Amino acid sequence: MRTYLVTGGAGFIGSNYIHYMLKKYGSEIRIINLDALTYAGNLENLKEAEGRDNYTFIKGDICDKDTVSGIFAENDIDRVVHFAAESHVDRSIRDPEVFVRTNVLGTAVMLNCAKKAWELPDGGFKEGKRFLHVSTDEVYGSLEEKGGYFYETTPYDPHSPYSASKAGSDMLVKAYMDTYKFPANITNCSNNYGPYQFPEKLIPLIINNALQGKKLPVYGDGRNVRDWLYVEDHAKAIDMVQEKGRLFETYNVGGHNEKQNIEIVNIIIETLQEMLPGTDPRRKLVSKELITYVEDRKGHDRRYAIAPDKIREEIGWEPETMFRDGIRKTIQWFFEHEDWMQRVTSGDYQKYYEEMYSAG
Ligand code: NAD
Ligand code: DAU
Repeated sequence: MRTYLVTGGAGFIGSNYIHYMLKKYGSEIRIINLDALTYAGNLENLKEAEGRDNYTFIKGDICDKDTVSGIFAENDIDRVVHFAAESHVDRSIRDPEVFVRTNVLGTAVMLNCAKKAWELPDGGFKEGKRFLHVSTDEVYGSLEEKGGYFYETTPYDPHSPYSASKAGSDMLVKAYMDTYKFPANITNCSNNYGPYQFPEKLIPLIINNALQGKKLPVYGDGRNVRDWLYVEDHAKAIDMVQEKGRLFETYNVGGHNEKQNIEIVNIIIETLQEMLPGTDPRRKLVSKELITYVEDRKGHDRRYAIAPDKIREEIGWEPETMFRDGIRKTIQWFFEHEDWMQRVTSGDYQKYYEEMYSAG
């Protein structure tokens, strides 16, 4: 039975990936989820996996060498899927240091522990071991409004402390591959959306605010472009890269779905209006009048867009979920998980939210 060590599995993409893998492979695989449970980690996301014999949760920090090497010593890990990171750009602008610690140092610890556990006396590595580093398209910087895409060959040009720290982590993975022939891949993905996304990110934040009749904060002129991908399509891409990708390669993963932020906000409002029955009291609250232009994000990248040609040609992966379907599924999920939203928007997150938007 193949054993996966997933880091950051209690976060948004990690928990969707674990659900995807357990559904696809059932008891053919074993998953160990290492997560520090920061503000973004939520074990509630994994309720359905808890109690399965082939799923184990370990609360621990990826920067803690003893914890990580202990996991490798006690388990014959075949695959590492490394999601754990600080992931929110606005937080990185306010507090860069924790991003450097988790994203750079944490990745270095993960790489070094995997290398030590997997290396053979001749300097090679045990057969079949693979490390996948989940990264972002933000490392490539910003595109012009019209024309051009990010390719795997696009030079790195990160702008925010978040993307700089992810670029640093990618460089470490590349260094391990170049120096030791360490068996790894990197995936650089565009913006994800879907169930379990923490409501500091644009799509869940707008859904949550609109349903409560709160202002919908749009940064700057609202015309920055992101390339949205349904999270389950991302989970499938990660699995396919580990199964079929060439070792040492980078694969860009994107949704072929560029939209301006203001378009996203309008689509969410219109979809909520269609989906909410007239008798639902929230129906009256949802309105385009809630849209509020606020101060722009510092250093706000104008446009991201991925050309996922390499992953399609080499591996046969393509985005499957059309945005109009993905956004309906996402909104339906939030309708059915109001209690989840209530719990994650209390406490620490509430404090951060008030500080962040107090000027808006
Ligand atoms: P998230 O913020 O929802 O989850 C991050 C998880 O990592 C949380 O469960 C958190 O508790 C855990 N974590 C943080 N610090 C840790 C530490 N020191 N030790 C162990 N666990 C720790 O993030 P996400 O949106 O699910 O993103 C996952 C990965 O995918 C990140 O590496 C991110 O850079 C990358 N990515 C995200 C997107 C996106 O649109 N969300 C797109 C491309 C790439
Ligand atoms: O591109 C991949 C990246 O996508 C990931 O690496 C990051 O982890 C992930 O957080 C995401 O980064 P973005 O900064 O693009 O996502 P966010 O949801 O924060 O913002 C999307 C766009 O919406 C961006 O242009 C900023 C804007 N925005 C965001 C928020 C939270 C607003 O206009 N208003 C808001 O309140």
